[in-house]
Amino acid sequence: MSQTFDVVVIGGGPGGYIAAIRAAQLGFKVACIDEWQNAAGGPAPGGTCTNVGCIPSKALLQSSEHFDHANHHFADHGITATNVKIDIAKMIGRKDTVVKQNNDGILYLFKKNKITFFHGRGSFAKAVETGYEIQVTGAKEELLTARQIIVATGSNARALPGTPFDEETVLSNDGALRIGAVPKKLVLIGSGVIGLEMGSVWRRLGSDVTILEGLPTFLGAVDEQIAKEAKKAFDKQGLKIELGVKVGEIKTSKKGVSVAYTNAKGEAQSLDADKLIVSIGRVPNTIGLNAEAVGLQLDERGAIVVDAECRTNLKGVWAVGDVVRGPMLAHKAEEEGVAVAERIAGQHGHVNFNTIPWVIYTSPEIAWVGETEQQLKARGAAYKAGTFPFLANGRARALGDTTGMVKFLADATTDEILGVHIVGPMASELIAEAVVAMEFKASAEDIARICHAHPSLSEATKEAALAVDKRTLNF
Ligand code: FAD
Ligand code: NAI
Repeated sequence: MSQTFDVVVIGGGPGGYIAAIRAAQLGFKVACIDEWQNAAGGPAPGGTCTNVGCIPSKALLQSSEHFDHANHHFADHGITATNVKIDIAKMIGRKDTVVKQNNDGILYLFKKNKITFFHGRGSFAKAVETGYEIQVTGAKEELLTARQIIVATGSNARALPGTPFDEETVLSNDGALRIGAVPKKLVLIGSGVIGLEMGSVWRRLGSDVTILEGLPTFLGAVDEQIAKEAKKAFDKQGLKIELGVKVGEIKTSKKGVSVAYTNAKGEAQSLDADKLIVSIGRVPNTIGLNAEAVGLQLDERGAIVVDAECRTNLKGVWAVGDVVRGPMLAHKAEEEGVAVAERIAGQHGHVNFNTIPWVIYTSPEIAWVGETEQQLKARGAAYKAGTFPFLANGRARALGDTTGMVKFLADATTDEILGVHIVGPMASELIAEAVVAMEFKASAEDIARICHAHPSLSEATKEAALAVDKRTLNF
């Protein structure tokens, strides 16, 4: 006998659990299936984001930043901190506690919203007159039926061909978040978001870190001026980033790992390290979904094919988050989840892909929304640019962190904001104002005329907006 629901969500990451909550709010009878297990084999909803992504990486970034400040910045404030030590087991334990708080929070939200949670793997059994049958396999076998299915099965780390993750020496994001002792030498392949965030964590804790990047440009998707400023800061910190390399043979042994590569000049090189983190992107995950049983269409990368509104090729089957096209970001997955639940309810759910913010949580933080200067140039847009350095911001001076700038790009004729790019302290929080402004189609002058609290980092945003019209007040 199968249990019948209005909506079954497969996957309990940010895409899935948020879709389930929104669907329940709209009055549907909802089930959510998620297979993630904690160390004790119990349920751990929240997906990659909660278990081995956004949340644990930010916990370690915070701990390592405190350590870095105690070692290198407290003295500026007249604080003596000698013999500063880091207890890695405790730091990892704290991170695990933060993860568990989030897992428990989601289980509580399921209860609060009367969502039936199944801990196990969900897979398509067959299409039936009343929708689809979904088989749940786990501690308990269940058969569910629903007319509406939302697939939110996320993504997995991409391995280098011939070098599988062993999570001991060759680490994905999973192993990178639970290294038991500071590696003397750490190599990362890929200087994207994970490479920079995880490289920063272990460098701050004392590792000699080298990141090998295949592309000749650093952070090609980021505004060039911002990427250049960030690179300068990383170089100063001693985070070694080699661009334009071609990774060759990777050998692991009891002692660690050896990575052969050709550098940008074409010279053969090799690096020995205790650990290797491979952060070369992620692949959509449909393992175990049994997509074939119902003819769910996948593309050549294994992503579920969807239209702009997350509809798959099957009536009543939707897909959201990392398993479909678009940026692999938790907030993008959440917005798609909400929009799909609203569409199922006959409402007009909407996701504006032009205003999805990006944040890299390094120090300095890098955050942006909208188009970069190189993108505007490439499409021949007439634009004006304005920048303001944190060096000239009172709050940044008081904080002792004046690295970086805020940059505004606005339409030359209408003054509409086309992109905002930030490298500097708390860029992750500052970017929200730019997102709101762009959602409301604000002009640079709108931001320039809004009263911003003094002293605050957000004054740099106002000043960058003023800079578009060449009338900064404090620089
Ligand atoms: P996921 O979070 O991957 O969740 C999918 C869930 O479905 C998992 O729990 C999985 O076990 C489950 N599942 C899969 N198949 C089945 C099945 N057949 N049956 C049952 N369950 C199944 N994004 C940000 O926006 N900000 C960040 O700071 C950030 N930091 C990150 C740091 C790291 C190290 C990594 C790896 C990623 C980070 N991301 C970040 C990306 C973010 O984690 C993802 O974009 C987000 O988790 C995608 O959400 P999702 O719901 O699509 O998939
Ligand atoms: P990424 O796409 O950000 O970066 C991968 C990097 O590896 C690229 O620079 C690429 O050129 C390089 N690369 C690819 N193949 C290579 C090879 N063979 N040799 C050398 N370099 C190679 O992917 P990453 O860092 O793995 O992260 C995956 C995704 O997770 C991100 O794209 C992002 O969507 C998400 N994420 C988001 C975070 C955030 O929002 N703060 C934090 C961490 C991850």
